[in-house]
Parts: sequence; C-alpha cells; structure tokens
Amino acid sequence: MKKDNKVDILLGLQWGDEGKGKIVDVFTPKYDIIARFQGGPNAGHTLEFNGQKHVLHTIPSGIFHNDTINLIGNGVIMDLKIMQEELEKLREKGATPEKNLYISKKCHLILPSHRLLDAVYEAAKGKDKIGSTLKGIGPTYTDKTARLGLRMGDVLMGNFEERYNKLRDRHLEIAKGFDFDISAHKIDNLSFDDYEAKWMDATKIATEFNLIDSEQFINDNLKAGKTILAEGAQGTLLDVDFGSYPFVTSSNTISAAVCTGLGVAPNKVGKTYGVFKAYCTRVGSGPFPTELFDNDGQRLRDNGHEYGSTTGRPRRCGWLDIPALRYSIMINGVTDLIITKADVMDDFDSFDVCTQYDYNGKKLDYMPYEILDDNLKPVLESHKGWNTDITKSGTMEDLPAQFTDYIKYIEDAVECPITVVSVGPDREQTIQR
Ligand code: GDP
Ligand code: IMO
Ligand code: MG
Repeated sequence: MKKDNKVDILLGLQWGDEGKGKIVDVFTPKYDIIARFQGGPNAGHTLEFNGQKHVLHTIPSGIFHNDTINLIGNGVIMDLKIMQEELEKLREKGATPEKNLYISKKCHLILPSHRLLDAVYEAAKGKDKIGSTLKGIGPTYTDKTARLGLRMGDVLMGNFEERYNKLRDRHLEIAKGFDFDISAHKIDNLSFDDYEAKWMDATKIATEFNLIDSEQFINDNLKAGKTILAEGAQGTLLDVDFGSYPFVTSSNTISAAVCTGLGVAPNKVGKTYGVFKAYCTRVGSGPFPTELFDNDGQRLRDNGHEYGSTTGRPRRCGWLDIPALRYSIMINGVTDLIITKADVMDDFDSFDVCTQYDYNGKKLDYMPYEILDDNLKPVLESHKGWNTDITKSGTMEDLPAQFTDYIKYIEDAVECPITVVSVGPDREQTIQR
C-alpha cells in the first residue's frame, strides 16, 4: 500500500521573531501547501525580496508564491478587520489571495469585544501585565475553551448576527465590572463602534474566500502525495504549557499543536525545522535570563532592527541561551536547525553564550519551572567574534572560520544539525547546506 506524505513543520525556538516568515518564504517553492496552525494577528512575519519588505499577520508566508496554496488552519484565530487590511495590502503588491488562500471553517473569530477585554485585563494586571499585543488573543482562546466562541463557518449561518450580539453583550457586561473607561478606549485608533462597523463589513471575507473543512483537505492532499509545510507563530518559550507561564501567549506554539491545529495525526509529521536567532530577543514582560541592559544589548537592537513587527515596541535583547534552546529542541522533536541573524553580530569583537543556569548554586542544563525566580542566573561563556561582513556569503565556504566554529559549537551543545544559515533579511541571503 502506498504511504501518505507527511507534514513538515517550521517553528520558532525562542520568544518569537526568530525569522520564521523569511525562511517559510524561502522554503515555499519546495511545498504545495503552506499552513498556519495556531496563533493569530499577534504574529508579525517579515518577508523581504526584490528590495521590498512585507509583514504578514494571519496569512501564511507562502502567499507571494501564486502556485502554492496557503491555508489558515482550525487552530488559528482570526480578526476579520485585521485580515481585511492584510488582504488589501497583499492585493496592492500583486498577490492573488482569492485564488490561493483557503480558510478553515473552524477557525475561531476574534471579536472587537475580545480585543476590548484583552485591554481591560491587561490594565487590571497593572505592573504584572503580560505585555500582550492587545489583539484579543487571550480572551478568544478562553472563549474557545469555554465553548462560547464563534467560528468562521458561523458567519454563513442565518443566525450569525444574533449570536454575535449575544457574545459581544456578554463581553461588555464583563468589562463593566472593571475600572476601565470603555467609551474612551480606542482599538487601532478607532472607537469600539467604528471598529465593530469595519469588522462587520469584513465578514464578507467568508463569501469571498474558499472556506473549507481543512482537516479533510490536508489529509486528502497528503494521500495524493502533496507536500505540506506547517508554519508556526510565536515561539516555543511563549507556549502556554512549556513557556515562561504566565508570560506566554494563549496557544500551544509547539510541534504537537500541528496535530490539533490542522487535524494531522502524530504519525503524519515529517521533519521539524526549528528557527533560532544567534542571540535572543523578547517583546513584552517575563523572565529572560540572558537579557542585556548595556551597550551590547543596544547594539544588538540597533544592528538587528529589533523593534516589533506587529506593535513596533523595542525588543529586549540578550545572549544566546543554550539550555533554553536544548529544551525547545526536545519539546518539538526538532530534526533540523536554522540559525538567523548572526550577521547582526558581524562587528562584535566578542560575545557571550549561556551554557547553563545557576539556581542557588545548582547547575541546570535545561529550562526549569523556576525560570521565573530571580535567583536563576545564566552561566556565561565568552566567544571571539568573526569581525567580518557575512551578509554577502553565498556558501558555507564563504563564511569566516570563527563563525563556522560557532555553528559547530552550537550543534555539539544541542546535539542537532544546523542545515540552514540566514545571513540577512532578504530571500537571497540564505545558505542551505
Ligand atoms: P518572525 O516573526 O519569526 O517571522 O520574525 P519577524 O519578521 O518578526 O522578525 C525577524 C526580523 O529579522 C525581520 O525584520 C526579518 O526581516 C529579519 N531577518 C530575518 N532573518 C534575518 C537575518 O538572517 N539577518 C538579519 N539581519 N535580519 C533577518
Ligand atoms: P511571531 O509569530 C514575539 C508575545 C507578546 C506578549 C506575549 C502575549 O511574530 O514570532 P499575546 O498578544 O499573544 O497575548 O501576547 O506574547 N508575543 C510575541 N512575541 N513574536 C510573536 O509572534 C508574538 N506573539 C505574541 O509580546 O509578551
Ligand atoms: Mg514576528
């Protein structure tokens, strides 16, 4: 009997923004279908080619390849207004989403009132706030689990408006219980009512696009021998179970989420590509053992343009964290590593790497529950920099020895091969070994 194809996975191993979008775009010519499986418009995936930069939030990063199907799977949550704007921008840039974008009927919808609640809850947390992107992610996944949510397919049902109003009124009632001025609150610079009107207008997306039972679609395509890449959002250290809880997002961001977010059985998973930066960044609150508050941190931010793709916030920067990387590789079953942004350190005479954690005198090789404790300190090791511009390197042989030594060092430390080296933001600046 002929064996079905398997789904490959590409996801982030740190706190997001590892360069997933860029690599998915580079890999897309090898795949028939690119599928998002979790998260929502909290993601910002940047692609660069032909001197142009594109930032995607809900739409998979294969969308600029007109022959590739891009699928938004059931595990993704969608804000129709944000989606509408993203679609408009794509059309202006020559993409044809009506032809190659498919959406699961089972995707949950982020209502304007979910976004309102996100802001209400964050304000109530005060100094303990998560640093949410305020896209409504937490409240929407909460309603999904509470069995209250509305899904994409519901838009086409006769009683959608009635169900929408009921859920919105429930949210407004909850919000009234907080010390929060709803009438003064703006969502993306719009009043609640104006945002809601635009969101409602965007429900037409449900009639303009291919809404499908995506689990059936994916499995039929695997049977037919098609190749599929699942594109992760956020990063492993933001996973709701394995990240630095509660400073995490509200979805599982790991490879296991491909099974639930696309309807793919565990034995249908092929390769798992894990993307990581040569250093670390984090946006929002929460523990970050190797965080830098000095000139090196500022240089990483400046050289790497480390400002959020979704919110524009400055990203916190720090050294590469090997115990965290090892942990992420384990949780995801990573088969291939992809290193990005080493070029950001091209002018560093030296840099540090965290090899272990010290927790009250005990040395740890992995990321423990106690990650939240200030007593957990990184054990740092200094490395000599390569002091060479690597951004024009086309092959491994072009790279300076100090850098290839560093690659070998990481491979040995985490026991996983690095098969792709990204040396700049452009599609072309990618070395595949
Ligand atoms: P994603 O969320 O994982 O897709 O990553 P983001 O797009 O949020 O952030 C990664 C940023 O780094 C983007 O601005 C990319 O254009 C850029 N980038 C990706 N790979 C590289 C690289 O190898 N070198 C440099 N300098 N920039 C990169
Ligand atoms: P991509 O896919 C970086 C962070 C937020 C916040 C926390 C919770 O571009 O890598 P949420 O809005 O999900 O409730 O925010 O998670 N966060 C991200 N950080 N990259 C992302 O996505 C992120 N998505 C969420 O900053 O700390
Ligand atoms: Mg991003």
